[in-house]
Amino acid sequence: MLSQHEYGAEKSRSFEAMRAATAPTDRPAAPPIEVRPSPSLRLGDKAPDFTQDSTQGPIRFHEWMGDSWAVLFSHPADFTPVCTTELGTVARLKPEFDRRKVKVIGLSVDPLFFHEQWAGDIAETQGAELNFPLLADANRKVAQLYDMIHPNAHATETVRSVFIIDPDKTVRLIHTYPASTGRNFDELLRVIDSLQLTDDQKVATPANWKPGEDVVILPSVRNDEADKLFPGGYRELKPYLRITPQPNR
Ligand code: BEZ
Repeated sequence: MLSQHEYGAEKSRSFEAMRAATAPTDRPAAPPIEVRPSPSLRLGDKAPDFTQDSTQGPIRFHEWMGDSWAVLFSHPADFTPVCTTELGTVARLKPEFDRRKVKVIGLSVDPLFFHEQWAGDIAETQGAELNFPLLADANRKVAQLYDMIHPNAHATETVRSVFIIDPDKTVRLIHTYPASTGRNFDELLRVIDSLQLTDDQKVATPANWKPGEDVVILPSVRNDEADKLFPGGYRELKPYLRITPQPNR
């Protein structure tokens, strides 16, 4: 049985072997990296602002967001198979994010030079151009601000972190996936639909909810108020469990 530290070191070795096999050989020397422990972000915290280079030029994050929502997501590195499929998937889903007024932005700790070469591979293999900015966080500035490096999983590369941030710049969702598991971006859209609905109405969305399905009335809403707010009626299974058609459909 490997210790947590040995597990991280083993993961790093196999990752480096994969990268040696897939990344271009004419890459510039990587700058020395000091990974400092960063404080964890929590739901409800202000999303830290930053300025960093990207495939669409330098980005000042809060200014770039404007009054949109944002999905900020990291992946371990360029020229890796799962990440290639993830970026292709997000590029194909971009109209769905746009429809919800959500801007998407990716991050990896590779330099812009790599991102630009890799974008060609993404277009070639995924049937979609890289149509959103990819931060070139080679100095780990953003990765450290958002606690995207988990040293016991991998010493210096980012894990698959996702942050959904609302127009007030408040962090509304955080999730972290391991390097070996590509994410389900339809699930992110589902969470955004839930957040946007529940910000607007006194409801919450039950397990496995999908847009258009029934929702639950917040326990803080009294029945006399619920009668007025939900003219479609509701079923009371328990005083705290009242089910109603999704409002505003
Ligand atoms: C990938 O994106 O394919 C990947 C990255 C790091 C470790 C394993 C897979």
